[in-house]
Parts: sequence; structure tokens; C-alpha cells
Amino acid sequence: MVYLAFLLFFNLISCFPSSHAQNTDLKLPLRAVNLGNWLVTEGWMKPSRFDGIINKDLLDGAHVQFLSTKLNKYLCAENGGGTVLVANRISPSDWETFRLWRVNESYFHLRVLNKQFVGLGNQGVKAVSNTPTHSETFQIVRKDDAPNRVRLKASNGFFLQVQSETLVTADYTGSSWDDSDPSVFNIAIVNTLQGEYQITNGYGPVKAPQVMQAHWDSYITEQDFKFISANGLSAVRIPVGWWIAQDPNPPKPFVGGSLKALDNAFTW
Ligand SMILES: *[C@@H]1O[C@H](CO)[C@@H](O)[C@H](O)[C@H]1NC(C)=O
Repeated sequence: MVYLAFLLFFNLISCFPSSHAQNTDLKLPLRAVNLGNWLVTEGWMKPSRFDGIINKDLLDGAHVQFLSTKLNKYLCAENGGGTVLVANRISPSDWETFRLWRVNESYFHLRVLNKQFVGLGNQGVKAVSNTPTHSETFQIVRKDDAPNRVRLKASNGFFLQVQSETLVTADYTGSSWDDSDPSVFNIAIVNTLQGEYQITNGYGPVKAPQVMQAHWDSYITEQDFKFISANGLSAVRIPVGWWIAQDPNPPKPFVGGSLKALDNAFTW
């Protein structure tokens, strides 16, 4: 995704002289500034944009690991996927790492190393499906005062539990948060992504259009172009996402409006 965005910003937009510098012919070499994080979100540049997202540490693409508090062992997709889940690993590595596909603020698909999704088998919990359906959807329920303590509610309405180190099932109805509870896990978030996909998916279809529009309207403005021009720069470089080509109706979760913002920049 990012790779495409880079290609596109070369193709679509490279440099153009600010209208405030149009008194002179284009002078080479250009002195330009890169306007990153405006039309393509780069989370590290303004992390606070993500602050309104519920469960903002569980964004799409995050890598997580689950330690059973009862067994003190990690949940593991045996063989990296294609068969059952077990809970017998002492230390977490690839097979014990699950990639979140975020459905909404608390519902997720869990993708294992071999790219299958965790779901419900006849006997026990398995990672065999190549496409995530209802059966591969889990609610991550967090403890209010200790958000890294979680339980996983399966699509059948029951919680995952570690019956033994080699049998993980989705049939638990208890609700305690004790260490000895077979449905309680400590979640470790070991890798996160913070891009345009994560911010739009994270806010969801109702809030994301408002948040992104407010960002586009305020992050770079005509005043900035005046300032850039007044300080001797003659060009700007504006990274855009590949989805701008389908604006105003880009594929979900991206939201429309960035093309209008870009159009505005051409008139500044
Ligand atoms: C989140 O997705 C789940 C599963 O599709 C659904 O049951 C639930 O109502 C959704 N919650 C919200 C807040 O949209």
C-alpha cells in the first residue's frame, strides 16, 4: 500500500510552483518541501489524530500474543496454521503471534502465520479458514482497570478457554478475571501500524469522514502555502494515496475528500 502511494505521488503530483511565486519564471533548481501526513496519514507525525479511536492500541494489522494466565503458556497456532490452536508454548514467536484484522472497535479476525484465520471447529478452536467469516470473528473483551487482561468471545457467544495445554475450546461461560480462570489471557501488542488504513478503519464509517475532513482542512492551509512561498521555496511535494484515484468513493475503509483538498492546493 505504502509502496503504491509512493509511486503515485511521483506520477500524479511532483512539484508545482506556488501561485505566490508566479511573478517569475520557474527557477531551477526548485527548492521544495514535502507535505507528508497531509493527504496520506503517517501516524508517527501526529499520533494525537488517533486519540479518539476506541481501543486505539488494537488497530488493524497489529501483532498480538496471548498468554494464558492459568497455564502461563502462550496460545499457539500449531504448525503456524492449518490445524488446531494449543496453549503450551513457553515463549512467543511466529506461531504464537496473531495479526488483527479489525472489524470494529472490539471485534476482530485473528490471522495466523500461514494466513489462515482462527475460527470454530467441531472440536476445539482451529486456524483453517482462508477467508474470515462470522465464525472467524472474536470480540476482545478487556478488563476495565487492566486493559491488557482480555477474554476472547467467539461467534457462538462463548469464551475461549484453555481446557488443557493441547485443547482450546470456545464453550466457557464464566466471567471472573482471576489468574486461575481458563478464559483469561494477557495480551501483548508487539507490533502496530498507524497509517491511513488504520485511522479510517479505526474511527469507522461514521466518524472517519469527519475526522479526516477536519484533518485535511487544518493540517495544511493556504496560510502554509503563503509562508512556504514567502520563505523562498518554490515547490511542494504532496504524497497522495492510490485510493485518491477513486475519490470521492474510494474502497473502504478509506474516505472521500482528499481529492478536493488537493484541488484546493492547486488554487492556493
Ligand atoms: C462490531 O461487529 C460485530 C460483528 O460483526 C457486530 O456484532 C457488532 O454489533 C459491531 N459493533 C459495533 C459497535 O459496530
